[in-house]
Amino acid sequence: MSSNKKFAYPHGNVLYRKLRYQFPYIVRGEGVYLFDNEERRYLDASGGAMVVNAGHGNAEIARAIGEQAAKLAYVSGMQFTHEPVEELARELCAIAPAGLNKAFFLSGGTEATEAAMKLVRQYWMAKGQTKKYKVISRMPSYHGNTLGSMGVSGRQHYRTLFEPLYIDHPKIPPPICYRCPWGKTFPQCDYECAQELELAIQQADPETVAAFIAEPVLGSTGGAMVPPEQYYPRVLEICRKYDVLFIADEILCGMGRTGDWFAISSYGVTPDVLLVGKGLTGGYVALSAMLTREDIITTIRESGSEFLHAQTFAQHPVACAAGLATIRFLQQHDLLARCTEMGTLLHQELLAHLTDHPLVGDIRGRGLLAGIEFVRDKTTRAPFPRAWRVVELVSATALAHGLVVWTNVGHVDGKDGDLIMLAPPFIVTDEQVHEIVTILSRVLDMVAEEISHKGGWTRA
Ligand SMILES: Cc1ncc(COP(=O)(O)O)c(C=O)c1O
Repeated sequence: MSSNKKFAYPHGNVLYRKLRYQFPYIVRGEGVYLFDNEERRYLDASGGAMVVNAGHGNAEIARAIGEQAAKLAYVSGMQFTHEPVEELARELCAIAPAGLNKAFFLSGGTEATEAAMKLVRQYWMAKGQTKKYKVISRMPSYHGNTLGSMGVSGRQHYRTLFEPLYIDHPKIPPPICYRCPWGKTFPQCDYECAQELELAIQQADPETVAAFIAEPVLGSTGGAMVPPEQYYPRVLEICRKYDVLFIADEILCGMGRTGDWFAISSYGVTPDVLLVGKGLTGGYVALSAMLTREDIITTIRESGSEFLHAQTFAQHPVACAAGLATIRFLQQHDLLARCTEMGTLLHQELLAHLTDHPLVGDIRGRGLLAGIEFVRDKTTRAPFPRAWRVVELVSATALAHGLVVWTNVGHVDGKDGDLIMLAPPFIVTDEQVHEIVTILSRVLDMVAEEISHKGGWTRA
């Protein structure tokens, strides 16, 4: 058995994503736990990258994948259709907001974003509105990491180096009440954050704007912020006024993560395009989807065109079988209700045990999606300087104590800002929720101790 010490650059032939990090070598997963090659156990409190909803080592999903691979592993979606894709499209559209009845399947979230950017462009071309191509988004936000999707993604430190390579699209501030740019406190505001969309459309020239893309409940760049209830109805009204389509990116917050199949449903709003990924297969294989309305596709067809997008692994039989098995598993075990129940408990425990912690500025989220923002000053909400690497210290200390959390940096101004995300599998138990909060609380104490007196910072 190899020692964990080895798995850091320049070991072996894997190009590690992080070049200064010691990777634990994971050999198996069971429920909410991961085990490394030295039998160390980790509670996966973030479900990896907010992906694992049905738990690790799920035999039902694994069996469905194996059976489909043995029966029919691959055909091109350009040439054939098959049972897994037909069934998954039917079941996914049945749980999606009414009216979204066409689904296209790809491998990852980024691909779904790019497919949506191309779809909206194609739609407006088919309608004769040939100048429309811009996709307005928010800063910060995250919609993907390829050159097309980076133009709409608002994760500045991922983009700066590559600026000459991509086309940037207009950005508006996000509905993060904790950091309201207008200094307002909800509900004593007039949804300036939504009105900003109208200003951005006017400024960009409405004739050139094809769509607005947003994560209904913000993902890691917004620390699980849940926008106030009238935000999306207002957004949709503005979109309709200017012939702008609304793309809801539910790659992270969808598939039950907030307790509803889709986070946008609780706002009573149906987007024109809905993107799904991550939890669609709970991590068992790579799969994402773009859902839209039939009339959008009919418009394209009537213009004499096809839907101009294809990738080798689109509509993949094994991936679709995994998606189907995941949806059925969540339904059969009533795991959305469980996500709501355990999510309520998680938020109660976080609020009860961490609100007064000197590092913690805000705790937010819905269902089994929680964001915890760390601040240098609880009153002014000033972030820690990036050079202190506070959130890296939190995650390394958590990992050393058997807890996996997801980190994000830079949400305050593109550089500073430290937060973690929690998104455990929906099968998490009361005791495990308690375990997550207990370990985290101890970890934050240790981190506070370690940075105490640094740059004049003291534990209040
Ligand atoms: C909201 C959102 N959209 C898109 C993406 C990109 O998905 P992927 O990493 O699967 O390409 C992510 C990934 O974290 C995401 O959170």
